[in-house]
Amino acid sequence: MTKKPPKEPSELRSVQWFGRHDRDALVHRSWMKNQGIPHDQFDGRPVIGICNTWSQATPCNAHFRELAQHVRDGVLDAGGFPIEFPVMSLGETLMRPTTMLFRNQAAMDVEESIRANPFDGVVLLMGCDKTTPSLLMGAASCDLPTIGVSGGPMLNGKFRGEDIGSGTHVWKFTEMLKTGEMHESDMLEAEACMSRSAGHCMTMGTASTMASMVEALGIGLPTNAAIPAVDSRRRVLARMAGRRIVDMVREDLRMSQILTKDAFENAILVNGAIGGSTNAVVHLIAVAGRLGVKLTLDDWDRLGRDMPCLVNLMPSGKYLMEDFYYAGGLPVVIREIGQYIHKHAATANGSTIWENVKDATNYNTEVITSLDKPFKPHGGIAVLRGNLAPLGAVLKPSAATPALMKHKGRAVVFEDIDDLNQRIDNPKLEVDASCVLVLKNCGPKGYPGFPEVGNFALPEKLLKKGVTDMVRISDARMSGTAYGTVVLHTAPEAAAGGPLALVENGDLIELDVDERRIQLHVSDGELALRRKRWKPPQPHSDRGWVKLYCDTVLQADQGVDLDFLVGNSGAKVGRESH
Ligand code: FES
Repeated sequence: MTKKPPKEPSELRSVQWFGRHDRDALVHRSWMKNQGIPHDQFDGRPVIGICNTWSQATPCNAHFRELAQHVRDGVLDAGGFPIEFPVMSLGETLMRPTTMLFRNQAAMDVEESIRANPFDGVVLLMGCDKTTPSLLMGAASCDLPTIGVSGGPMLNGKFRGEDIGSGTHVWKFTEMLKTGEMHESDMLEAEACMSRSAGHCMTMGTASTMASMVEALGIGLPTNAAIPAVDSRRRVLARMAGRRIVDMVREDLRMSQILTKDAFENAILVNGAIGGSTNAVVHLIAVAGRLGVKLTLDDWDRLGRDMPCLVNLMPSGKYLMEDFYYAGGLPVVIREIGQYIHKHAATANGSTIWENVKDATNYNTEVITSLDKPFKPHGGIAVLRGNLAPLGAVLKPSAATPALMKHKGRAVVFEDIDDLNQRIDNPKLEVDASCVLVLKNCGPKGYPGFPEVGNFALPEKLLKKGVTDMVRISDARMSGTAYGTVVLHTAPEAAAGGPLALVENGDLIELDVDERRIQLHVSDGELALRRKRWKPPQPHSDRGWVKLYCDTVLQADQGVDLDFLVGNSGAKVGRESH
């Protein structure tokens, strides 16, 4: 990339607010001075917005007020003017019906908050699953110089001498409660042991995956992915981001210069190498859409297809993010797959991705394996197509049971989540381990909001017999901390009239991951008859956000953004204040 001469203070957009000599400038400065800001801070130095998703209702981000202080210190170190501002925070564990319903709403908040305020550059503080994509999406539509700082994972869970992982052990313990291997008092003890420090889920779930994506995309600083939230080096990283963003403003290094197609391709490769979450597929497609970068499911399959999983982390493996950091973290993974990545991709610190990682050292080859002897042969996301998913569906091979990746079975159908909850544990349910469990109406429009229910629990009577996995198909997502032979994101979804809506009990379904196929063995004529009988579900709401969302949301293969939010409006505002 050719370097531009540094920006003059008079070229900064904040000058339009603070650098003038009129009534409006008086208003802009005077009210800010009530926070104790001295007049000399309005001298044309870069104004940096610190976009904070702190909330007590988002436990994974509850330490962000302190983290923001370190970013502030860094901005001040480098001669900038920090302004912290809150945006809608999406807490995965508490929000109903699902945080994904609100990802785009939070992205709108971020976009408009950045554009409307006098920021020259932005630092994004993000951690819990949806806070990362929503901030990246919103910021991308403004395209200012931007650095992402992730909040970091929790310390390893410790329960009765064993390391336990957030999410992953929730599924395990819930099954053990059903089979009687655990009692409620054990669960109470386990829940306290699982979340014992600040930070987000410490498995390679969606939050850790997205933090890794931030680093792999180059929009975060090296080591962003894995430093534990409570490790002092996380604070140093925040401070360095604060310092660096001031220089990025002076260099006018914008998001769109970093988040190129090459950067997204690098991120997909890294997702494969870390055995990352299937949620990254929708989120990265959505972020790319904001920048006009064409990223498709085919890119995911093409690049991830042969990428082995190098990282032995739950849910696919044994270790946790703390171990990953001590082993060398993401720089080691990127160095290991160096032969595949676009080495010259630019990153936020001003160096190329390869310059950042080429000297990374692996301190624990059990946690991060080599490309020659990978932890698992397939880390990428498999994109499946067929008459059941004409626009695609996804499956995570590293979390699936190898023997089930080629499987034909009788469909046991649940019309929606209520139907599933009512019948799945009924002892009279006609199901055996060879069946294919089908869950409908859990897609973006159907639920609404595209929840993480695709890895729904197996029938209790089969769990008690020792069955640990079955093929499950839905138009839902699954938690990045989950595992199983689970076909997700089936598009078009059932509520939009996709073929999934037409599946009936007893139909034969064939999954062939090697061939990338998901096929419903029902004749076209019969499907046409069923389509004539099909009625779309009633709308979920006739007002407010849910109506806007359901009317305009795109399908999973297009990133589940709202149709009118795709693209980029820049940071210009055509009108003065008031
Ligand atoms: Fe916040 Fe898992 S619940 S990252």
